[in-house]
This record gives sequence, C-alpha cells and structure tokens, in this order.
Amino acid sequence: MERFAFIIHPLEIEDVARKFPSAQRMPASWLESLLRHSPPIKASHIKGVRSLQGTEAEGWFIGCLLTSKQMMELPEQDVLDKIIKSARKAEQLGAGIVGLGAFTAVVGDAGVTVAENVGIAVTTGNSYTVATALEGIRYAADLMDVSIADASVTVLGATGSIGSACARILARDAGNMTMAARSLDRLEELASRIEAEAGLRPQVTIDLAAACRGADIIVAVTSATGAVVEPEWLKPGAIICDVARPRNVSRRVADVRQDVLVFEGGVVEVPGDVDFGMDFGFPAKTAYACMAETMILALEGRYENFTLGRDLSVAQIDEISRLAARNGFRLAGLRSFERAVSREWIQRVKENADRASRGVAAKGM
Ligand SMILES: NC(=O)c1ccc[n+]([C@@H]2O[C@H](COP(=O)([O-])OP(=O)(O)OC[C@H]3O[C@@H](n4cnc5c(N)ncnc54)[C@H](OP(=O)(O)O)[C@@H]3O)[C@@H](O)[C@H]2O)c1
Repeated sequence: MERFAFIIHPLEIEDVARKFPSAQRMPASWLESLLRHSPPIKASHIKGVRSLQGTEAEGWFIGCLLTSKQMMELPEQDVLDKIIKSARKAEQLGAGIVGLGAFTAVVGDAGVTVAENVGIAVTTGNSYTVATALEGIRYAADLMDVSIADASVTVLGATGSIGSACARILARDAGNMTMAARSLDRLEELASRIEAEAGLRPQVTIDLAAACRGADIIVAVTSATGAVVEPEWLKPGAIICDVARPRNVSRRVADVRQDVLVFEGGVVEVPGDVDFGMDFGFPAKTAYACMAETMILALEGRYENFTLGRDLSVAQIDEISRLAARNGFRLAGLRSFERAVSREWIQRVKENADRASRGVAAKGM
C-alpha cells in the first residue's frame, strides 16, 4: 500500500464557520486568532485510490489552519513554520510524499523551503494543475468552436508558477496573447522569454480589466485572495478557465453573464472506489489536479520531490500527464460555480453570445 498526504487549509474564514457550527457566533477576528495558534490537524483518512495498474494508495488530508488572507498577510516565516509542521505531521502518519494545497504552495518559494525541512518528498501539484487547465481550455475551445490559433488569449497571474507555465505553452498556439499581474518588470521579463521560446511577444499590462476586454480565452490564475474578474469586462462568447482558489472570477459573472463560459481549471476523476473522508464541494471520486499529482506520484512509488519553485518544466508537465493516464486519472468534464457543464449549457452560451453581439437579451441557463 502506497501512502501520501495533502495539506489543505480554509480558503476563507466562512469555511471555518461552515465546518464548525460552534464557531458561527464568534467574531471573525477571534476565529482568525484561534486558527493562528492552532496546531495542524488530521482532517481525514483517504481510502480506496486504486490505479489502473492495480496499485493501491491511502492518504490523509492535513489541515493547516490559516485562511488564504492570513497566509498572505502574516509574517512569512510564521506561515512557513505552520506549513512545515503540517508536512511533519504527514511524515509522522507514514506518508511518503506530501502535496501542498492552495496557498500552502503559494507562500514563500513554492515548496522549496518546506522540502528542505521534512524527511519526505514534497510536491506543489502545480505540474498536473497546468496540464489539466490546458486540457480543459482546449476541450472548452473545441465545444465553443473557438480556434486557439485565431484567438486572443489572456493570462491573469501570468508571472506565477501556474500562470507562467500556461502562458509559455499557450503562446506556441495562440493567435495573440496578453499577460497581466501587478509587477510590470516581471511581466516584461517573461514576455522576452516567451518571445525567444515561441516567437510570439505577448502584450503586458497591470490593468486586469484592459487585459480581459476583447479576450476570447482567459486563464485566471492570480493569487489574489478575492475575486478580481468582473462581468462587465467580458466579451460575449468568452471562455474563462478559473484555476485560482479562492476563485478569481466574481460569482456575479454566473448571475449576469449567460453569454460566457466560466469553468474551474484542474478538476480530475480519481481511479478506484475512493473515499476522501470529507466533502470539499466536488462530486464523488473527483479531486483537484494538485491532489491528484500527489496521489499519482505515490501510486508510482515516486517518493521524490517533484514540482517545486515557480519555474515549472514542460518536461515534468508532460511526464505527469503521461503518468496520470497510465494510472487512470483524467479530466472530469467541465464544472462552473459548483455545477456540471452539459452540452446543452454550451449550446445556450453560444446562442446567448450570438444574441449579445446582436444586442438582444440573453436567455437564462
Ligand atoms: N485548481 C487547482 O488545482 C490549483 C492548484 C494549485 C494552485 N491553485 C491556485 O492557483 C492560484 C495561483 O497559484 P500559483 O502557485 O501559480 O501562485 P504564484 O506563483 O504565487 O503566482 C501568483 C500570480 O498572481 C499574480 N497576482 C497576485 N495577486 C494579484 C492581484 N491582486 N492582481 C493581479 N495579479 C496578482 C502574481 O504576480 P504579482 O505578484 O506581480 O501580481 C503572480 O503572477 C492560487 O489561487 C492557488 O490557490 C489551484
């Protein structure tokens, strides 16, 4: 039996109140202070992961009790210490590899320091997240009859670990590209690298609204702790892959823009009769790609550091995709704001986009 663990954390303070009813009457500031001083917890025992090759794995979700906002705002060393303690808990439970979920992979140097401070292998899971986000974009573009070669592609959070890999790979095929984040210097540096690698020089901007207006395809993968993409910015028929957790795309988009397709990047079907021992809002037997990367490496007995740092390698993205297929992991269709996207849904988005471009009101979903 192979063994892995995956570190999770509450994305927002409301997640804690939802999970622990006794916390509901507590002011948010008290709850945050309580979290800050809490040790890591074993959140659940994961059973029943079974590869197509017959190998089995079990694992644990380890709760590192800080919200996304706390992870970004508290002193970096304090946050890293909590993540390292969580990874050591994984080691004590017998895991051979630990994956870093959501902001535990964003803080500091994206896993490098954590790996230096524990006796087991560490991965952020970002390679498989990139692979599945790109697969989802190609699938969605196909369904929406959008040709990536003719499309204007925008990457928000383009200088990050996931964003830069997505931008470098999409630049090989895209008609044109715009990249956005907050540091113009880092964006210019990445644009030069992409120009040298792919022959296309992306435009760069720190204005997210400008980056979205006119885009046919948007990859939203900033580490902002709240929504940064608003409905007013989107072109009818736009395809938006929201990889970020918490979401980058405002929930208002689902309410008022029935002429665009928003889907969550990186949702994967896990092979076997898997029981995660907790509900993270997905249908049974599906998980985030970063969780899946950790499981895949365990099933392969690859107890070695895999995706670390912010400069992902295309070779590793290709390798994890190959290992995923070999073990029976695959993209779990498209999901949008907790709902599965059907072919009829896509048809209505296309019809509404056509109406919107003719100035006619959209039909409901
Ligand atoms: N779906 C999944 O399975 C999965 C897996 C792993 C991670 N994630 C999520 O993916 C997101 C990104 O992770 P990462 O590891 O790539 O993070 P990262 O390496 O820290 O990159 C974050 C990027 O966002 C930009 N950014 C941050 N705040 C911004 C803002 N307010 N406006 C515009 N740009 C901003 C950063 O550049 P500047 O600092 O220059 O702005 C950088 O380009 C996180 O939300 C994470 O939780 C999802």
